[in-house]
Amino acid sequence: MPETRVVVLISGEGRNLQAFIDGVQAGLIPARIVRVISNRADAHGLERARRAGIATEVIAHAACASREAFDAQLAAAVEAQRPQVVALAGFMRVLGDDFVHDFRGRLINIHPSLLPRYPGLRTHQRVLAAGDREHGATVHFVTEQLDGGPAIVQGKLSLTQQYTVESLAMRVMQEIELKIYPQALAWMARGQLRLERNVVWFRDRPLAQPLTLEDLEAPFQ
Ligand code: GRF
Repeated sequence: MPETRVVVLISGEGRNLQAFIDGVQAGLIPARIVRVISNRADAHGLERARRAGIATEVIAHAACASREAFDAQLAAAVEAQRPQVVALAGFMRVLGDDFVHDFRGRLINIHPSLLPRYPGLRTHQRVLAAGDREHGATVHFVTEQLDGGPAIVQGKLSLTQQYTVESLAMRVMQEIELKIYPQALAWMARGQLRLERNVVWFRDRPLAQPLTLEDLEAPFQ
């Protein structure tokens, strides 16, 4: 089977990217990360990619005349890599409809909330302010609706103790994001996930509910 080519888009720290790199290097994700693209030149994730020998590219949104111009430049750069999967990993720009349409079914994202609850920014802060009893993160296919595409896998945790925004963000990252996203990428790379109309198919069955932490394979738990 030809190797699955993956492009990862980042803006910052790159912990999710690192989990992909580690998963690929460990032989758990049958893919090749062919390029990491950042909209910020100072994203630490670029350093992680370089250390792993992955080609990087910066497309600075600030240097583009318009949102459309940025999207078009980014789309061309991504398409040039002929990826089967495009993973947004802490990529902090909203992509326009044309971009999303072009990569539909290949484009996945991780969002730090139990979608459809808390789309958008500052999720941990909003969860704490609302006094919610549970929180988590969701990997989903990206569609034109912001943070609204069909969910693939969702990890939950119960909020039984006091948290700061930072301690909660850390726990969601460590216990959920860094597990569900590499697993989702592995499923994508093996061709076990697809998007049909607005429904996620997993191993040739439509998903009525997102997969959960219990569905993760042992190496990803
Ligand atoms: C993650 O919490 C991700 O869910 C959110 O931004 C953060 C990125 O962290 N969209 P990193 O760049 O992967 O370290």
